[in-house]
Amino acid sequence: MTQEAHVTQGPLTTEAGAPVADNQNSETAGVGGPVLVQDQLLLEKLAHFNRERIPERVVHARGAGAYGTFTVTRDVSQWTRAKFLSEVGKETETFLRFSTVAGNLGAADAVRDPRGWALKFYTEEGNYDLVGNNTPVFFIKDAIKFPDFIHTQKRDPYTGSQEADNVWDFWGLSPESTHQVTWLFGDRGIPASYRHMNGYGSHTFQWNNEAAEVFWVKYHFKTDQGIKNLTQDEANRLAGEDPDSHQRDLREAIERGDFPSWTVQVQIMPAADAANYRFNPFDLTKVWPHEDYPPIEIGKLELNRNPENIFAEVEQSVFSPAHFVPGIGPSPDKMLQGRLFAYGDAHRYRVGINADHLPVNRPHATEARTHSRDGFLYDGRHKGAKNYEPNSFGGPHQTDRPLWVGSAVTGATGDHAAPSHAEDSDFVQAGTLYRLMSEGERGRLVENLAGFIAKVSRDDIAERAIDNFRQADGDFGKRLEAAVQALRG
Ligand code: HEM
Repeated sequence: MTQEAHVTQGPLTTEAGAPVADNQNSETAGVGGPVLVQDQLLLEKLAHFNRERIPERVVHARGAGAYGTFTVTRDVSQWTRAKFLSEVGKETETFLRFSTVAGNLGAADAVRDPRGWALKFYTEEGNYDLVGNNTPVFFIKDAIKFPDFIHTQKRDPYTGSQEADNVWDFWGLSPESTHQVTWLFGDRGIPASYRHMNGYGSHTFQWNNEAAEVFWVKYHFKTDQGIKNLTQDEANRLAGEDPDSHQRDLREAIERGDFPSWTVQVQIMPAADAANYRFNPFDLTKVWPHEDYPPIEIGKLELNRNPENIFAEVEQSVFSPAHFVPGIGPSPDKMLQGRLFAYGDAHRYRVGINADHLPVNRPHATEARTHSRDGFLYDGRHKGAKNYEPNSFGGPHQTDRPLWVGSAVTGATGDHAAPSHAEDSDFVQAGTLYRLMSEGERGRLVENLAGFIAKVSRDDIAERAIDNFRQADGDFGKRLEAAVQALRG
């Protein structure tokens, strides 16, 4: 255990530092009489206790985190001018929070659900956050559908439980989800632990170099522990026996010095390729097949230090896809664009306007120099410095160099769907994924899907859901239909 007592000596005190005479008996009017308002210790303890919780994350509420080190293993300066990536051997401190998506704060870890992969690089040019998942794709491709999607994954307003009807109704009516759903109900849908899975940036991001040339990139973090998964039966048992299985596994591995690591790769697309690539390169429901853009190894990520206080460092940690550093920026992916707003807004609501001042969230390799001030729990860090710009007192000033390179756009504003490229369809990559699976994997995939679809109360919802898989691959659809029918009788 690395914890140190906050205060080791001296008498117990109130929050204001006055010594406490009795921490066992509250103060009453006479023996056996009512409790007095003048017992400040009692009131203070009860009031503080009532305020111990902050709102849990609306998604990804259940998670665990650890600090680590990212080391560059390949010169990438031809593609990005990000300083933390500038030379082989360079090390950057990181904090990684893993999570499940749908469950509430106290939910079990061993469930079929994507795993969150929120990685903060404390770089010398500010914090860079990569807020991805253990899956290279996602269920939807436009942020405007996210609240509806999550409502179907969470508790129904009437029953108070997750409902198969809602889940399959939404997925059936959102055929772009077929690829991610095929992934989720396959063998990788329940990782054995956070250490035994890959991480992905999922979206396409921009890298730009000193010459302001643009490249589109996708990040992959390949586990050095090997992929290990649980079957549905194993997970059902573990979730009951050890609900904190992933959190415990991560903490214990780091405590015994068995530091988990990941090999970091990127796929890189020159900007000129994007317009005519066979798939829309900014569509989050699609991967870039490796034969088109082979992954290039660029670094190593190791986790080597546990947080000392889960609430302070994990619950209050905040990650934003909008936290970029020079040389890295967003792509026009409509999901990513929505996320650029959603996270900062969630942090202001959940942790407060000064969330970025907390030790886990603030820059570690540089300092934040802003003219923002005050707000709840402001710690006075700017002392008497001027709080406006321009000023004549040597205050911080703009650099005149944007972090990323702007994109050319044409056309009228409107509710446009993301453009389709030559080989885009909602089903093509789901079909490829199915055909890549071994016979054993296909059987388990069909069984997992059928077990859930069979719980749907309406035939039309179940049939529409099955039809998406039929369109991905005829054999897939046929087997699924038969398996669902067998279960529904
Ligand atoms: C437009 C779609 C999305 C919206 C609006 C959205 C919104 C949110 C919000 C509000 C949170 C809680 C943040 C907090 O309270 O600190 C969150 C957490 C998270 N989201 Fe998303 N999300 C979206 C899509 C995605 C996608 C596509 C991924 C992965 C590829 C993802 C990965 C995560 C992760 C890993 C967390 C947990 C962060 C942490 O550990 O603190 N989300 N999301």
